Amino acid sequence: MKILCLGRLPQDLEEKLSALAPIEFIDRTTALPDAQLIAAMQGKSVILTEPQDDLNEKVIAAAADLKMIAQRAVGYDNINLPFCSQRNILVSNTPGVLDNATADLAFALLLACGRRIVEADSYVRGGQWTGFENDLLLGTEISGKTMGIVGMGRIGYAMAKRCHGFGLKIIYSRSGDQGCSDSEIKTDDKDHMLATEMNAQRVSLETLLKNSNFVSVHCLLSKATTELIGHKEFALMPPDCIFINTARGKIVDEQALADAIFTNKIKAAGLDVFYSEPEVHKLLLAAPNVVLAPHIGSATAETRHAMANLAVTAVVQAFQEQTKPPNLLNAEIWTDWQKS
Ligand code: DGY
Repeated sequence: MKILCLGRLPQDLEEKLSALAPIEFIDRTTALPDAQLIAAMQGKSVILTEPQDDLNEKVIAAAADLKMIAQRAVGYDNINLPFCSQRNILVSNTPGVLDNATADLAFALLLACGRRIVEADSYVRGGQWTGFENDLLLGTEISGKTMGIVGMGRIGYAMAKRCHGFGLKIIYSRSGDQGCSDSEIKTDDKDHMLATEMNAQRVSLETLLKNSNFVSVHCLLSKATTELIGHKEFALMPPDCIFINTARGKIVDEQALADAIFTNKIKAAGLDVFYSEPEVHKLLLAAPNVVLAPHIGSATAETRHAMANLAVTAVVQAFQEQTKPPNLLNAEIWTDWQKS
């Protein structure tokens, strides 16, 4: 058995994984061309991937020896999961370990936009500061406002806890709520828990967009959420709205966002993810009220280690210990996979 690892691994985890099988490493920051990836996957039973890698049907079909994909991320929109299941290939991801780091970054972007921290930094470094001025770089008060959270999974919940701590009112929409009116939403135990714990209220996407001073996106990218936020949605937001995206760039129509910023339909945006990374829309690059980060939501040393550890452990569990990894995305194929 041989393993292909896209990207580097921490030393201790490289040692743990190489005790199972030899590893070939390929370092890259954007997706390898299909042909190069296909060539590298020949003879490999396992591949460790990250969000930029494109595990499409053509690539998977050409990887005759592939038995498992261990994705070092919670999002897995870069992997054709149904096709993997059809081919009896296990797929795991890294849920649970990156919630706090990602929510911290989302909240940091909100604070950076609201209090104009990046502009303030350039102002001081640029030698423009002449002394205290009463109305210099006035920002927006965060506490007491309404935060609209789009997607209430683990990261959305971690964001809600931060918002609650800062005295924000929380409203949220959950996956499946798209296109629903408020009266069509059927609440469940999770909604009751959120209402009790932080007075958070589940609403339709339309109600959320109309009533939020801040909107933060935390849903998975899927067919249903591709370009979920476009011209119509930005038009619903109040003009003081700060828009935050740490989920996936393709959830947002980037041209619509640039238009909303330049026509003052919204006040500011904090972005960690982009439609075609690492490209950033020219207008967003030029806007002082947009704070940009290079997809670093989960990038703390502790969290990135925990993510790599979950991925490596899943491979060891499946191949060496023959126990079902708890973080499989297609656990339904486990029994058949074991027989193969
Ligand atoms: C994820 O986990 O999906 C992030 O985007 C990468 O850490």
